[in-house]
Amino acid sequence: MRVLILKDYETVSKEAAAIVKELVTEKPDCVLGLATGSTPVGLYREMIRMHEEEGLDFSRVTTFNLDEYYGLSPEHPQSYRYFMNENLFNGINIKKENTFVPDGSVKKEAVEDSCRMYEERIKKEGGVDLQVLGIGGDGHIAFNEPGSSLASRTRLVALDEQTISDNSRFFDSSDDVPKFALSMGVGTILEAKEIIFLANGAKKADIVAAALEGPVTGMVTASALQMHPRVTAILDEDASDSLLKGSFYRFAADAGRKINKKLF
Ligand code: GLP
Repeated sequence: MRVLILKDYETVSKEAAAIVKELVTEKPDCVLGLATGSTPVGLYREMIRMHEEEGLDFSRVTTFNLDEYYGLSPEHPQSYRYFMNENLFNGINIKKENTFVPDGSVKKEAVEDSCRMYEERIKKEGGVDLQVLGIGGDGHIAFNEPGSSLASRTRLVALDEQTISDNSRFFDSSDDVPKFALSMGVGTILEAKEIIFLANGAKKADIVAAALEGPVTGMVTASALQMHPRVTAILDEDASDSLLKGSFYRFAADAGRKINKKLF
């Protein structure tokens, strides 16, 4: 794994955006895997800036989001579809029909089919070239809560108490937070060709250390990233605070920069 420890949130966002830009420039019809939450908002802001000021073209890009609250319609202001439109899609020249978010309004009887079709669509588009990930307070990626299978696929999941409490800041009260979601599985995520894993802030420091340096376990689903050959973790100083090997990662990143290679 390549671990980049950068000064602050803005630098993290810019580094992530540079990786996205490189891919979109080299492969204009690439497939991006996208995440929600506050972490990638700076990356999305930077992607919008690069589109507006540098003419970065998203017209042939396809995107797949990781997850969606179950029970919220795409028009609901707290739905992840709404979030993506507001924070990214409306600001770039992507075709809305090429942006996919699991449909949280699907009827109970249709959930399995809908999840299976989501996976099939990812395959049909050639798989995800670059997946953006954040990490939940309980170590989840997407909504793969503690106890998820590391081979899991897109499915209906229940949300952990901690997630409901963490995400209640976006709702009027924690009672309003949906208790279920549709989420890509850990197995689905690990099929992406490359992954960027973003974290910032002191609140994430311990769980980031558990994910990157602890045992690979379904109790911290982000730890499954240790099994993927091309992950770049981009952290701000605060989020890197509990890492045991922080100074080695800085050394390796500097060495990589000197020879102009990504050292995973
Ligand atoms: C949600 C999403 C995750 C995201 C997490 C962290 O639970 N399902 O994909 O990584 O929030 O959110 P934040 O970036 O706001 O800390």
